Amino acid sequence: MTLTGTLESGTDLPPDERVIDVRDLRMRYGTKDVLAGVSFAARRGEVIALLGPNGAGKTTTIEILEGFRMRSSGEVSVFGVDPAAAGEPWRARVGVVLQSWRDHGKWRVRELLHHLGTYYARYATPAIARPWPVDDLLDVVGLTAAADSRVARLSGGQRRRLDVAIGIVGRPELLFLDEPTVGFDPAARREFHDLVHRLTDVDTTTVLLTTHDLDEAEKLADRILILNEGRIIANGSADELSRQVAGESEIRWTRDGQRFVHSAVEATSFVRELFRQYGDDIADLEVRRTSLEDTYMRMVRDFEGSDR
Ligand SMILES: Nc1ncnc2c1ncn2[C@@H]1O[C@H](COP(=O)(O)OP(=O)(O)OP(=O)(O)O)[C@@H](O)[C@H]1O
Ligand SMILES: [Mg+2]
Repeated sequence: MTLTGTLESGTDLPPDERVIDVRDLRMRYGTKDVLAGVSFAARRGEVIALLGPNGAGKTTTIEILEGFRMRSSGEVSVFGVDPAAAGEPWRARVGVVLQSWRDHGKWRVRELLHHLGTYYARYATPAIARPWPVDDLLDVVGLTAAADSRVARLSGGQRRRLDVAIGIVGRPELLFLDEPTVGFDPAARREFHDLVHRLTDVDTTTVLLTTHDLDEAEKLADRILILNEGRIIANGSADELSRQVAGESEIRWTRDGQRFVHSAVEATSFVRELFRQYGDDIADLEVRRTSLEDTYMRMVRDFEGSDR
């Protein structure tokens, strides 16, 4: 199990297929190294979830890729261009949902989206109609009923939906989402997941998102990167990560009205033996594999416990 050092994720992709290409990215604030050599790549249409504890450097990484923050060192290329030097046509291909919300309080929702959308019209291509028609956009983010409300009057979840709408109004080919679903109710969360699937399946949008909701990461991401103390400590699909951490499954059942719980590495043979012994007396059997949350906690804890 490799939990120490820097994992280079996706760097085996051919260069022309890399929408994002990051090598040995470092960021120092004062005397503190927040990113200590991060390398990864993303290909077109891929959804990558960047996970990690508070302060791990997720927002810093994303803002460097968006061209909003200057890095200390390392090579960064997005659509083959360094974001720090990129111009307007590049920016029009990139959608951004920031973690902290910028105020547009006096605007009404539809007017604001219409206004922002006009900027993108000149960047329409034969393949990509820009901007996203406002009424369709309001519909996909679930803001139709709030279209004429002032932004300042929206609820927290509605504001976040508006942030998502602002991020995609230009039909970006690459979308950065920094904790997009904070404040979403369960229905809004599910609609958002459907929207991301639509963006990636139909429009082959590449997505880099951060979240603290590990179910969300599992549902959305093709690949998960875990950032901790300035380095990528794990990279792979949710299944691949859980296989790296030798996990125990939890088995629950009832017998004669009594509830039992047992943890086993080999769940199948345990259950087989259980039925051999007690057969028809077993009811309410449940087997739960190691969740992404268990895996994540293990990886972060093991990394912190290692001497690196
Ligand atoms: N402008 C800044 N000046 C100095 N330090 C900063 C600045 N921005 C971020 N930091 C520090 O860099 C570290 C990483 O911050 P960052 O916001 O990237 O973390 P994060 O992974 O996004 O965390 P969270 O999950 O809380 O959003 C933190 O220790 C933070 O205090
Ligand atoms: Mg952050």
